[in-house]
Amino acid sequence: MFNAAPLQAVGKAEQYLELAEQARGLLHGECDRIANAANFAALIYHALPDLNWAGFYFFDGTELVVGPFQGQPACIRIALGAGVCGTAAATRQTQVVRDVNAFPGHIACDSASRSEIVVPLYLGERLIGVWDVDSPTLARFDGDDRVGMERLAGLFVDSLRAA
Ligand code: SME
Repeated sequence: MFNAAPLQAVGKAEQYLELAEQARGLLHGECDRIANAANFAALIYHALPDLNWAGFYFFDGTELVVGPFQGQPACIRIALGAGVCGTAAATRQTQVVRDVNAFPGHIACDSASRSEIVVPLYLGERLIGVWDVDSPTLARFDGDDRVGMERLAGLFVDSLRAA
């Protein structure tokens, strides 16, 4: 079965390039959204250090609803514009939050979370949902993570195109 290679030994940008190759292989030839989301979340959660939650919220036409993830059970529904996830979806901008307690309206699902990155997922003009990753460490995510996570999220969105 597929195993994530240990990535800590190299620099962050290289880690993300390697992880993107692994994600490409994992998603190749499959367009089922749930299957790809589940494997994608498991791959990243286990490959990257210092995470406590990694997963999806999908847009159901009205709000965001939790999808496949790794980590503690999470809140189920998030309105567009609410919290970090709803803000990413509504603004179409990746949110890199160095301190979740300083983010107005942050929704605390796991009290261990200290920082967070959320990438909006759009297929053309259509909102698919968001990719959300939490860390128990303050300021865990930086510009390299933004670039890396956006590239990874793009691979997930691309995998749905045949659907
Ligand atoms: N913190 C998120 C909610 C989802 S959990 O982190 C899994 C937010 O403020 O939108």
